[in-house]
Amino acid sequence: MISIKSPREIDLIEKAGNIVYQTHEYLRPFIKEGITTKELDKLAHDFIISKGATPSELGYEGYPASICTSVNSEVVHGIPSNRKLKNGDIISIDMVACYKGYHGDSAWTYAVGEVDKDSKYLMEHTKKALYVGLDVIKPGARIGDIGAAIEEYATSHNLGVVKELVGHGIGTNMHEEPDVPNYGVKGTGPILKEGMVIAVEPMLTFESPEICLLDDDWTIETEDYSRAAHYEHTVVVTKEGYKILTGGKNGENR
Ligand code: MF3
Ligand code: CO
Repeated sequence: MISIKSPREIDLIEKAGNIVYQTHEYLRPFIKEGITTKELDKLAHDFIISKGATPSELGYEGYPASICTSVNSEVVHGIPSNRKLKNGDIISIDMVACYKGYHGDSAWTYAVGEVDKDSKYLMEHTKKALYVGLDVIKPGARIGDIGAAIEEYATSHNLGVVKELVGHGIGTNMHEEPDVPNYGVKGTGPILKEGMVIAVEPMLTFESPEICLLDDDWTIETEDYSRAAHYEHTVVVTKEGYKILTGGKNGENR
């Protein structure tokens, strides 16, 4: 069952989502050569708490940090560590905040200093793939329409689509029904209705989309060590289309 959220619930998810947006913006100037991913984690943790929310990822199924920091060929769930960021790295930061029982989830990939043109291409088109996927959302559209749009955009730009990991419904739980794959067939899958809240999150790779799980049991990396990017917003289906809930207070998003 895919739940329909009430206006009050949507408002709380948006408050959580806005804190996630502010945390991303707060971290941005710190994402520089020399900072460790653990330092970023501590900054994000303290910022989220200072806003009256809690970092949902901390302790989730035993996850040991408040954010996921996935560098270069790491796709998702990279655990913050003493690894220092280097000029030319890219880092995907994925975070979820919980406010009054409701979660907002958003990931973004950042360049550290000056990155090469392949990395710029990967980031630009993965971000675009997120918006291409979001733009099909409206009542009556289907989950498969989102995946088909993302997959079509990714493959036509020669990027790989990671298939083992998917977006999801979100609300009082970080992961709810339905799954939101980044591939699929138009006209298939659950029908979207006004008030459904989902997180759409394409994870695209520069070369092969095959992935493996590292020994820490969390970090997912590309098998061929090619770089990956990850962009995610939590959105609500509206009468007209959709609204981003992980943007700024005045409707800004990235
Ligand atoms: N934020 C991730 C998502 O987009 C989930 C991370 S789970 C964690 O669904 F345990 F690794 F934090
Ligand atoms: Co998510």
